[in-house]
Amino acid sequence: MTRRRLLGTAGASGLVLGAAGGAVGYAARPAEATPLTSLGAGEVMFHGKHQPGILQRLQARGHLVAFDLKPGVGRREAAALLRRWSETARRLMAGEGARQDDTAVARDAGPSSLTITFGFGHGFFARTGLEKQRPVSLDPLPDFSSDRLDKARSDGDLWVQIGADDALVAFHALRAIQRDAGLAASVRWQMNGFNRSPGATASPMTARNLMGQMDGTRNPKPSEADFNERIFVPDSGAKDPAWMANGSYAVVRRIRMLLDDWERLGLKEQEDVVGRRKSDGAPLSGGSEKTAMDLDKTDAAGNLVVPINAHARITRPDQNGGAAMLRRPFSFHDGIDGDGVPDAGLLFICWQADPLRAFVPVQRKLDRGDALSEYVRHEASGLFAVPGGAARGEYVGQALLE
Ligand code: HEM
Repeated sequence: MTRRRLLGTAGASGLVLGAAGGAVGYAARPAEATPLTSLGAGEVMFHGKHQPGILQRLQARGHLVAFDLKPGVGRREAAALLRRWSETARRLMAGEGARQDDTAVARDAGPSSLTITFGFGHGFFARTGLEKQRPVSLDPLPDFSSDRLDKARSDGDLWVQIGADDALVAFHALRAIQRDAGLAASVRWQMNGFNRSPGATASPMTARNLMGQMDGTRNPKPSEADFNERIFVPDSGAKDPAWMANGSYAVVRRIRMLLDDWERLGLKEQEDVVGRRKSDGAPLSGGSEKTAMDLDKTDAAGNLVVPINAHARITRPDQNGGAAMLRRPFSFHDGIDGDGVPDAGLLFICWQADPLRAFVPVQRKLDRGDALSEYVRHEASGLFAVPGGAARGEYVGQALLE
């Protein structure tokens, strides 16, 4: 069996690091099975400096699931749960079966670039007697005037993000994680999402969202000098507890797109809302997708070609005191609502070293009304502390829980 280890940046294609020569195999996969396709063989390492599911390219399928600890569950049981979850994640990401009683749902498939990521919500710390270890960055996000949040689908003591390029592999991981929760934690909410499948386009390109826009163009890149300090908590920072070293904060928002209204707009109106061309993501000031946006350019009548309230103008770091975040979303579609409109949009997930310096100031501005706000509605929200990756033989969150 051929297996490839993949590491890529969000929105870009995976970069092949090397072959892992069939050292591990899906437990129930017959020896005579035909070689996996490159899609199924994609493997992301569980152990590392950062948890998986942050720097890798977007996967085709995703599940977000939040858990609350059950009554009477404390630090010891929580530590045992994180140990179980980490072992399951390590096994499944390597293409092995679950810890016990594997359901065979992912049988015949490779890991398909599966990633499983774990985070802690605000409530976790009081429940486990660890309040002193709660990062100040987990303080609840401010209320935004346009929020229409469903509390039952927001927050949670624990958060798990699952991504894979195959729907059955992703579901298999979701069930294994839910079963591992056992008597320790129960599901608070779950959301399911998707992105374009790898190979669907002739060459890898920035993903499109359900409004049809290229979304992710201006994401910070690991090659940039300030990438790490913007996205990850430093080894020894004054603000964060030591257990968050190399971790990151995830802001999760279920953002409904008001697609009936959006689709009634003409192309020019849609492009003015964002400030970029729909066809190729180029700024309205000209050039191609990667060309720098000229914020001052005017047309013959003296009007700004990138409108003053365009989403891509308002959200720029240079318009927000340097605020930058890594956006790594999934789209969602949960059918048609009671009032006959699509229940579809973006599971917006952004990663940053400090939410108060990244998501919050940008969302404050959007809340005052950029051109896009009229066509979206924030329906659920979560903020999670995602510790650094587990070293070999360790589990995620060990520095907090032991
Ligand atoms: C840029 C769409 C919500 C922050 C963009 C772009 C699009 C887009 C098409 C331009 C291409 C790019 O650089 O990626 C959307 C949609 C949203 C949404 C459809 C809701 C459904 C948000 C939210 C935030 C945000 C809630 C943060 C509070 C940003 C940032 C940029 C951006 C930081 C890049 C700005 C730059 O560096 O030039 N978004 N966005 N977006 N968006 Fe959004």
